[in-house]
Amino acid sequence: MAEMYGVAVRGTGSALPTRVVPNAEFTTRYRLDTSDEWIRTRTGIRERRFAGPGETAATLASAASCRALTAAGVTPADLDLIVCATVTPDRMCPSVACLVQAALGCRTVPAFDVSAACSGFLYALSAATQFVKTGAARHALVAGAEVLSRALDMTDRNSCILFGDGAGAVVLSATPVRTTGVRAVRLYSDGTRRGLIEVPSRVTVPVPGEEPPPTHVLLAGREVFRFAVTRMVELIQEAEADARELGIAGFDALIPHQVNQRVIDAALETTGFPAEKVVVNLDRYGNTSAASVPIALDEALRSGRCKPGDTVLLVAFGGGLTWSSAIVTL
Ligand SMILES: CC(C)(COP(=O)(O)OP(=O)(O)OC[C@H]1O[C@@H](n2cnc3c(N)ncnc32)[C@H](O)[C@@H]1OP(=O)(O)O)[C@@H](O)C(=O)NCCC(=O)NCCS
Repeated sequence: MAEMYGVAVRGTGSALPTRVVPNAEFTTRYRLDTSDEWIRTRTGIRERRFAGPGETAATLASAASCRALTAAGVTPADLDLIVCATVTPDRMCPSVACLVQAALGCRTVPAFDVSAACSGFLYALSAATQFVKTGAARHALVAGAEVLSRALDMTDRNSCILFGDGAGAVVLSATPVRTTGVRAVRLYSDGTRRGLIEVPSRVTVPVPGEEPPPTHVLLAGREVFRFAVTRMVELIQEAEADARELGIAGFDALIPHQVNQRVIDAALETTGFPAEKVVVNLDRYGNTSAASVPIALDEALRSGRCKPGDTVLLVAFGGGLTWSSAIVTL
């Protein structure tokens, strides 16, 4: 189908659980052999949010979506499509997107989930962009929501300190202007390296001759660190080339997946991307997987760090393995 419309980011929103978990809690409450100092210096994280009773991927996604709709001046009845990215859905069925559709009181529009771990939001953004571009949807809601705290092994200091819960959302709207909104997207996967990050489901079964499936989030941290830096460098370099082709003078901000300050610093060092243009909130939220990029985007807009007209580069990488980027003029 022909590309008929530009895809404007009309509004953003985010929602975080109320419970704040400072680094110190891993020693006091969870009795781990770690320290605030180790976590801060090795990751940049100071605290994260963990979902409490009644908070789920769907409730957080719904709250973030309400805020995005209000910011966009779009009503739930205006939406033609809902896409949610998550690897921690309330249930495998119904999807979080269907739960959001019901919670917001939308029409019986298409609603589905996307599973691409920390790249999930950009995969979902890409899917929704295709609908809006071709005229199949005028207004689309895209959310990333996770409650990874419920899948963590709280005795494993290598993984449980890294993650937090939350949700972010954007409303995309068709516009006749082609030089705004979602300008370019790149998506990648490499399933041969699936073992580096795993989030099991209740229906995960053992495969004869293979290691038994994990019961919690499983992470090969050091390998993922190397993968994350390599991919982040590639994504930035590719996006800079894409931007030149699109006639974009440069990026006003880089909003990376909030994985580890050292991953971000290493990628900046190699690419020479200016550190002052990078939006970081991992100190407060840790790694919220599919929610990390849309939460950071929402905070950047609300705080005035980014403003309408700015062109931002979004990059993400994670389980699958998957990696992805988007160039967006706000
Ligand atoms: C996990 C991560 C923080 C570990 O940092 P690192 O500098 O690579 O640390 P290492 O894995 O080399 O471990 C160094 C030592 O610290 C220890 N360590 C790990 N976690 C610790 C913690 N929370 N507190 C104290 N010590 C810890 C390790 O056991 C290891 O000890 P050893 O040398 O005696 O074996 C880092 O690799 C990372 O951020 N990786 C990517 C995260 C990720 O996978 N995110 C999800 C996908 S996007």
